[in-house]
Amino acid sequence: MSRDELIEAARQAAAHAHAPYSRFGVGAALLLTDGTVVAGCNFENASYGLSLCAETVALATANAQGRLRDVAEVAVIGGALTDADLAGTDTVTPCGRCRQVLNEAAQLGGRDLAIHCASADGARVETFRLSELLPHAFGPANLGV
Ligand code: THU
Repeated sequence: MSRDELIEAARQAAAHAHAPYSRFGVGAALLLTDGTVVAGCNFENASYGLSLCAETVALATANAQGRLRDVAEVAVIGGALTDADLAGTDTVTPCGRCRQVLNEAAQLGGRDLAIHCASADGARVETFRLSELLPHAFGPANLGV
């Protein structure tokens, strides 16, 4: 699967964002080692602080399928929710908490994950390694796992 196909999967997931408070939709797609894609979108709550980010939802879904160790690559896209689409020109990078959650999959799988961060308008994509976004990470290895 190409980078752009993975970003498209993230965009499709964002269409299901439950984001009535921020009106900012985010989709995340995880490419697994066997080519399977697991996607998620942000899931907000009327008790704002309980909201879940798209990346965390996708990773929890992969874990529920027993596949946390098999995450190979990640795409994230986000933007303002309009009637039928996402709008915006800025790339969306994972928030700090999501970087830490991504690190769980990265360390368990032994991969420095590539994370493709796309803008809603499709004009910009920036690819980072998780080690760039979360240097000197604390993870399973620190606990001997
Ligand atoms: N959000 C994500 O889903 N992922 C991120 O990495 C950044 C932020 C969501 C959380 C909230 O629902 C909305 O975007 C605005 O912060």
